[in-house]
Amino acid sequence: MPNPTPDAVLLIGQTLQFSGDPLVEGLSAVRHNSTGAVLIRGGHIAEVGDATSLRAAHPTVRVQDYGDHLIVAGFVDAHVHYPQTAIIASWGKRLIDWLNTYTFPEEMRFADRVYADEVAARYLDLTLNHGTTTIASYCTIHPESVDALFAAAQARGQRVVAGKTCMDRDTAPGALRDTALSAYDDSKALIERWHGVERLSYAITPRFSPTSTPDQLRALGTLWDEHPDVLMQTHLSEQVDEIEWVKSLYPKARDYLDTYEAYGLLGKGGLYGHAIHLEQREKDRLKETDASLIHCPTSNTFIGSGLFDMAGLSAEGLRIGLATDTGGGSSFSMLRTMASAYEVAQLRHHPLHAAELIYLATAGSARALRMEDKVGNITPGMEADLVVLDLHSTPDITQRADRADDIWEALFPTLMMGDDRAIAAVWMNGTCRKEASD
Ligand code: GUN
Ligand code: ZN
Repeated sequence: MPNPTPDAVLLIGQTLQFSGDPLVEGLSAVRHNSTGAVLIRGGHIAEVGDATSLRAAHPTVRVQDYGDHLIVAGFVDAHVHYPQTAIIASWGKRLIDWLNTYTFPEEMRFADRVYADEVAARYLDLTLNHGTTTIASYCTIHPESVDALFAAAQARGQRVVAGKTCMDRDTAPGALRDTALSAYDDSKALIERWHGVERLSYAITPRFSPTSTPDQLRALGTLWDEHPDVLMQTHLSEQVDEIEWVKSLYPKARDYLDTYEAYGLLGKGGLYGHAIHLEQREKDRLKETDASLIHCPTSNTFIGSGLFDMAGLSAEGLRIGLATDTGGGSSFSMLRTMASAYEVAQLRHHPLHAAELIYLATAGSARALRMEDKVGNITPGMEADLVVLDLHSTPDITQRADRADDIWEALFPTLMMGDDRAIAAVWMNGTCRKEASD
C-alpha cells in the first residue's frame, strides 16, 4: 500500500456551493451535489467535485465519509458581543434599559484580563459547537478584552474580526468610558498589534453614536481614513426610542446615519448592525457607499426592536450579513438565527428560501465582512472552514425530513428545528474541531 498523502483529507457527503447570491439570482446561484466531495490540503479547499472522481484522482488520500450528511461552509456570525456571553437571555428589558441593567455591569468585569480570557475561550468553544467558524465581535472598552479574544482565536486558528468598543460620552457609566484621544490611541495600537496577524483582523468599533461625543466619532473617522483596510462596526437604527435619543443628542444631523457620515464613519467596510428603521436617504447612502447591513433577527425580536426589511434591502443590492448579536440575541446558534430570520421575513410576507437562509449565514455574511474570497463558500483556494450537517439529528426532524422530495425540503426542518445536535462535524482551518461520537 502506498503511504497516504500527508496533510490532506477528502470529505465525502452532499455538498452545497454558491456561484452568486440566491436572493438576487434565485436557485441558479446554488449548486447542490448529492454525491459530492471536498479535498482539503494545507488548511485550504483544494478541490470540489464528485465523490467517485475525486476518490479515483486521489487514491492515497485519507477519506472521511459523511454519508448523506450535507457539507456547507462554516457559519459566519457577522455581529456579536462576546463579553455578553454570560448575560444572554436576560429578561424583560428594551434596548436602553437592557444596556444599563445587564450589559454595562457585565462589561465592567472585563477590566480583569483573567475573566476576559475565560469568557473568550468559553464563547469560542460554545459557538464552534454550533458550527460558527468566523465571527465579528465587539469587545469592551478595555484593550485587554481585545487581546483576550484575539489570543483565544489565534490558539484555535480561527478567523475573527474584533475591536475595542469606544464610548466617551456621559451616557455610558464612568467605569466604561474612554476619551476621544485614548480611543484613537488604543485602537491604533491594537490595529498595529493584531490586524492581519494570521486569521485575525481589526474593526474600529464606536459602540453607537449615543455613547460617543462628536470628538470621538471624528477621531475614529480619522483613524479609519488612516487605515482604510480595517473594517468599522457600529449600531444603526435598532429601536425607535434610540432614534429619538440620537436626534436629541445630534440636533443638526439629517438622520441617524448622518451622525456617522458627518465624521467619516460611513463607507466601504462599514458594518451597520440592526438597521431596521431606515429612512430613504439612509438606504441610498448605504447603497452608494457599498456599506454592509447586519441582520440580527433573534435580538430584534428578543429586545423588541422591529422587523428588518430583508426583501426591500436585498432588492436594493445591499450587502447583508446575518448575526446572532450575542447576548442581545437569544441564541448562539446560527441555525436558530436562520429560523428567526425566516419568521421575521414571514411577518413581512416574504418567505425566505432555505438556500437564501444558508447563503445569508455563510457567503452573505462573508461578503458583508468583505471576506468572500476567504471564507463562506466551498470553492478551491478558500480557507477550509466547513460544517457537516446531519439532516436527521432528532426524531422530530427525521420524521419530517423523511417526507422530503428534494434537498431543500430535506434541509428546511433542520434550519427551523435544528440545534447543536445537527452539527455532526466542524472543520476549521483544515482541522477537524468537532466530530459526532456515533
Ligand atoms: N446598541 C448599542 N450597544 C448595543 C448592544 O450591546 N447590543 C444591542 N443589541 N444594541 C446595542
Ligand atoms: Zn450589537
